[in-house]
Amino acid sequence: MPDASSPLLEIRGLRHYYRQPDGARHQALKLDRLSACMGDALVVSGPSGSGKTTLLHILAALIRPTEGEVLFGGRNLSDLGKSESSWRAESVGYVFQEMNLLPDFNVLENLLIAAEISNMPRDAALDRADVLLERLGLEDRKKSRPYRLSLGEQQRTAVARAVLHSPPLVLADEPTSSLDAENSGIVMSLLLELCGESRSLLIVATHDESVKRSFPFLVELEKPGKDPSKGVLP
Ligand SMILES: Nc1ncnc2c1ncn2[C@@H]1O[C@H](COP(=O)(O)OP(=O)(O)OP(=O)(O)O)[C@@H](O)[C@H]1O
Ligand SMILES: [Mg+2]
Repeated sequence: MPDASSPLLEIRGLRHYYRQPDGARHQALKLDRLSACMGDALVVSGPSGSGKTTLLHILAALIRPTEGEVLFGGRNLSDLGKSESSWRAESVGYVFQEMNLLPDFNVLENLLIAAEISNMPRDAALDRADVLLERLGLEDRKKSRPYRLSLGEQQRTAVARAVLHSPPLVLADEPTSSLDAENSGIVMSLLLELCGESRSLLIVATHDESVKRSFPFLVELEKPGKDPSKGVLP
């Protein structure tokens, strides 16, 4: 990992294309340059379809970009290869747009399973889960399965799960979409506070104007057009 003053994340010439059913390639993301340090908090905004989720998926190494470089801690994410899943589990906390809580496990178990995958010792995970669930107002929901939770409670559980192991990178895709204004403010303040404490780089994709205002850095994506080229995708 670089020291605190050098960039933790550097993006250059990033493009992502998806193949359309008619064979044309559709440009889903265009981002020329971005750099961010440990402890930074930035928001990614732009119209629906401008590539916010695609960008977060690339940052989590869930997909490889068609073009360009993403360096994290000096490492090119496209070169991760076989170590990809352990890198992701240890380095990234992800609040998915659809939350992706495990339906057969309760709130606490959802957190502990994520901790185990990220190699966090169980005692430390239990202590931290207690603290986080209390701070997120979920202390009496520990034993509940996701289907018994309100959407807001599910979203807060997803936030707790993402920050549990204090990963260097926390990605959150529309983390307030199911919350009213008051709860949205509470969740965003906690996310900023928790990532600040662990010096995690926090990147949030959102349409929410009030969320945008609470962040020091804004990355605005433009909706890329259809690329008429039918070139073969790598
Ligand atoms: N798996 C896929 N296959 C084909 N096209 C895709 C795929 N995923 C996304 N796209 C397209 O890529 C573009 C960017 O999608 P993406 O989900 O990244 O946008 P977004 O900014 O997150 O949108 P929203 O605000 O609605 O969540 C869209 O035009 C979308 O239709
Ligand atoms: Mg999206």
